[in-house]
Amino acid sequence: MSKTAKLEIDNNIYEFPIIEGTEKELGIDIKTLRGVTGGVTTIDPGYKNTGSCESAITFLDGEKGILRYRGYSIEELAEKADFLEVAYLLIFGELPTAIQLAKFDKDIKEESHVDEDMKKILDGFPKSAHPMGVLSSLTSALIAFNPGSVDVDSEEEMYNAIVKILAKFPVLAAWTMRKRKSLPLDYGDNSLGYVENLHKMMFARPNKAYEANKLINDALDKLLILHADHEQNCSTSTVRIVGSSHAGLFASLSAGISALWGPLHGGANQAVIEMLEAIKADGGDTAKYIEKAKDKNDPFRLMGFGHRVYKNFDPRAKIIKQSAEEILGDMGVEDPVLDIAKGLAKVALEDEYFVKRKLYPNVDFYSGIIYRALGIPTEMFTVMFALGRLPGWIAQWREMRLRKEPIGRPRQIYTGENYRDFVKVENR
Ligand code: SDX
Repeated sequence: MSKTAKLEIDNNIYEFPIIEGTEKELGIDIKTLRGVTGGVTTIDPGYKNTGSCESAITFLDGEKGILRYRGYSIEELAEKADFLEVAYLLIFGELPTAIQLAKFDKDIKEESHVDEDMKKILDGFPKSAHPMGVLSSLTSALIAFNPGSVDVDSEEEMYNAIVKILAKFPVLAAWTMRKRKSLPLDYGDNSLGYVENLHKMMFARPNKAYEANKLINDALDKLLILHADHEQNCSTSTVRIVGSSHAGLFASLSAGISALWGPLHGGANQAVIEMLEAIKADGGDTAKYIEKAKDKNDPFRLMGFGHRVYKNFDPRAKIIKQSAEEILGDMGVEDPVLDIAKGLAKVALEDEYFVKRKLYPNVDFYSGIIYRALGIPTEMFTVMFALGRLPGWIAQWREMRLRKEPIGRPRQIYTGENYRDFVKVENR
């Protein structure tokens, strides 16, 4: 493969280096393009063909359905690791030793209190407020209570900010859910593991002893691992570009939460269940909805289907589908929408429209079925996605800052009015 790419404009030939990643991905390095061509730029709406950075955190191969965190396969991590280990791996690049993991866990626990005045901000929201909007606001509000976590340049300052947000974010997420349910805010219990404590904070009842359920906590742990990172997706790119202005970690994460909220991105897990419920209410007529999804005049999309990168099965969807069947079986839960989901997927995967466009179930297609079986309200599904993605956002933000990457500022091609003189209002 050639090490350079040639571009011809007006009989001038320009050469640009081709960089090769450790998994043989190739990218044309156009850092000098505008300079050498006198101002020519590129245009690529949605960045479908454009790499924003080099990164050593997550590798995915959309054609082969491969996903690896720091070289470890998602299948092995989901099976053999726990979420805190995976968080450490993503952020610091290596699986932690027992001593490193114990210190990480201890440092996080020491930061798990949230300032009481944060409750006044939470109380300002109506119960009907969507949890993602509340969580984005609370994450940003945390800055005011942790000013030392804003301007972090050294690795030590970053570490302190990282353990703070890993500790406080689950508390805020649980508080957001409990507020909607008019439950007292629970501070959790530092004697519990990270995911077990999250479940306790979400579900403990004030007048009843909390009983941990290993099946539920293992399912949650696996779901959080499966959502932990996914290279330069919309919300991660948001975290990186906001962080590139040297806005603090919490501000960058708050922006990432807002980006994840969108139904085309993390918000799809809520939209999938709402779609499946609508199909169920409409008599379970999957064929009708498949036709609606194919109809260009119909705004309906098959939520949980399709992916910008995966043009084969999303490996996470495969694992989640199998887990959904196992967990519902173990819990003795019968959920008719699981059958509707499987029926929908079967028909779509045999339909020319979906096959031609390489549209497969993605991470959001089955996840809501498990969340629901675990008693998590539908409007909290995307918050669960954010809880999983938190270490990935942190890892990507830290990588960008440690590499001292430039502020993100894309160019454009202007297509508006050419110069025109101002006209006074009496003459218009
Ligand atoms: C996530 O990027 C990531 O890594 C994201 C994520 C992560 O972990 O961070 O994996 C998480 O966001 C998963 C995606 C969740 N979103 C959904 O499930 C929403 C439904 N899916 C689509 O809206 C869509 O597939 C996207 C947004 C996921 C991807 O959109 P693209 O890559 O911009 O593709 P496109 O919209 O240009 O679609 C290409 C074609 C179009 O048809 P044509 O114009 O070629 O005729 O496929 C069609 C689309 O109309 N199409 C669909 C469809 N998805 C794409 N048609 C019906 N139903 C769908 N779901």
